[in-house]
Amino acid sequence: MGSMERRLATGVLVIGTGGSGLRAAIELAGRGTDVLAVGKRPRLDAHTSLAAGGINAALGTMDPSDSWQQHAADTIKESYFLADPQIVETVVRGAEEGIRDLERYGMSFAREDDGRISQRFFGAHTWRRTAFAGDYTGLEIQRSLVAEAERLGIPILDGVYITRVLVDDNTVFGAYGFDINDGTRYLIHADAVILAAGGHTRIWRRTSSRRDENTGDAFRLAVEAGARLRDAELVQFHPSGILEPENAAGTLISEAARGEGGVLRNALGERFMERYDPQRMELSTRDRVALAAYTEIKEGRGTEKGGVWLDVSHLPRETIMQRLPRVYQTMMELQMLDITREPIEIAPTAHYSMGGVRVRPEDHGTGVDGLYAIGEASSGLHGANRLGGNSLIELLVYGRIVGRAAGDYSAALAAQRRSASVVAQARAEVDGLLAADGTENVRALQRAIRNTMSEYAGVVRDESGLTAGLEELDRTRERANDIGVHPDIAGFQDLAHAFDLKASLLAAQATLESARERRETRGCHNRSDYPQSDPELQVNLVWSPGTGVVREAISPVPAEIAELIRDVSTAGKLVE
Ligand code: FUM
Repeated sequence: MGSMERRLATGVLVIGTGGSGLRAAIELAGRGTDVLAVGKRPRLDAHTSLAAGGINAALGTMDPSDSWQQHAADTIKESYFLADPQIVETVVRGAEEGIRDLERYGMSFAREDDGRISQRFFGAHTWRRTAFAGDYTGLEIQRSLVAEAERLGIPILDGVYITRVLVDDNTVFGAYGFDINDGTRYLIHADAVILAAGGHTRIWRRTSSRRDENTGDAFRLAVEAGARLRDAELVQFHPSGILEPENAAGTLISEAARGEGGVLRNALGERFMERYDPQRMELSTRDRVALAAYTEIKEGRGTEKGGVWLDVSHLPRETIMQRLPRVYQTMMELQMLDITREPIEIAPTAHYSMGGVRVRPEDHGTGVDGLYAIGEASSGLHGANRLGGNSLIELLVYGRIVGRAAGDYSAALAAQRRSASVVAQARAEVDGLLAADGTENVRALQRAIRNTMSEYAGVVRDESGLTAGLEELDRTRERANDIGVHPDIAGFQDLAHAFDLKASLLAAQATLESARERRETRGCHNRSDYPQSDPELQVNLVWSPGTGVVREAISPVPAEIAELIRDVSTAGKLVE
């Protein structure tokens, strides 16, 4: 069972079939480069399909005063000055083209009566610049990209798990993996590899990622290939994840619910945002709303189950059905709760990896020749607090740029590198896990990591907790030496989980070490023992297993953008 090995060769291999991977593949195919995309999930079910509320571009359809410069200023300010200004400028300048690309691929945006694309307000944007398709924006984007990829005849392999990027002398030459259903091995030779395999938010207990996604795969693949991680500690906790049922804990209630006028109350019925951000209230920034909800719960003003209330029941039913259809459906399906009548019980949920693989701003190269990273796998746009809607546009913009860069790199190669010993190591790694017959269960260890991260690296952290977390992680790693891996008639999921576990161990290590080193409070990263920001730590923290955490300076913000940085008010921005 499963010993067959298929060999494939391509110009550029894209690992991950969410928005960024597909956009890169489309660019490559459009330019005539040989490309292959592989994903561990079915293509229409990649994580991008979960993205809800919207995608940003300063189109000015609702607020003509908007500009890419203001979008850049808002993004940099809310990153708490940890974003890479060049990456920010690249995304906001390319955003309109990203929206036009989606229109060409058939995306159906919500529109005003006169045909303009509607744009709604998301927290901390100066203007309404979030375009959307109900609260199914990511699903619509994913469908449009899949349709375009299929129209171009791009080969896509679903259900293939990549275990290793093949690298010799700091140069990529492909990847190794297996089919999750039947165990067939894949040896894929490629000139260049684009890592588009997401982040690491599934290593927390309450998370908006589903089982088996965002387990840190891209981080592990990149680091083992020789790349480094940047700001792994910077994880966005979205204020509104549901509490129940336990197996769906953390499922997202889109910020659109607040954008459309939803209000937050504690168990005493108080609109608690009055205490934290009286100007912007529910439309304050995500880090502030998440911290506020966390504080209410922690200080005993939460519900019995440990949440607070998000209420949209005062909104017109039509608004809910047209603008928040997914929230409505999700709550009916998971809790049989009618949000047009009752409030939703929510608490912060691990939502987005703002840190990720360290990449160059110009082409998202990783420093390993021929290896690129994009989307949630990468880092540089969001710093310490991501603006809602900025991640989807990043997929479109850098998908295009990185597709081009990888295609050019492939075209310029004079010879294809190979290394039999590197391939042998990749095979041996899979063989070794398949032979593992210990008593520890991979799922249980994954749960142990999630417990550790939730206990010690959640919304609020401190030195002793992070140290305790690292010690606990050492014990889990020890136990992981004694796992049993048991593929069965149903498939090779257990082998995939074993690799997920390796990835999660690495991602957790990087996160805890970096979080301990960031001895300050900044954006999403709250240190109860260091409650202020430290100007000395307005730097990126770059991590690898060999070097540990190293500080890296951030380029200055261009004057044209810096002068636009100011506090954002919500006046007049709610949906009219
Ligand atoms: O709340 C949301 O709809 C999430 C949007 C985002 O994370 O960009």
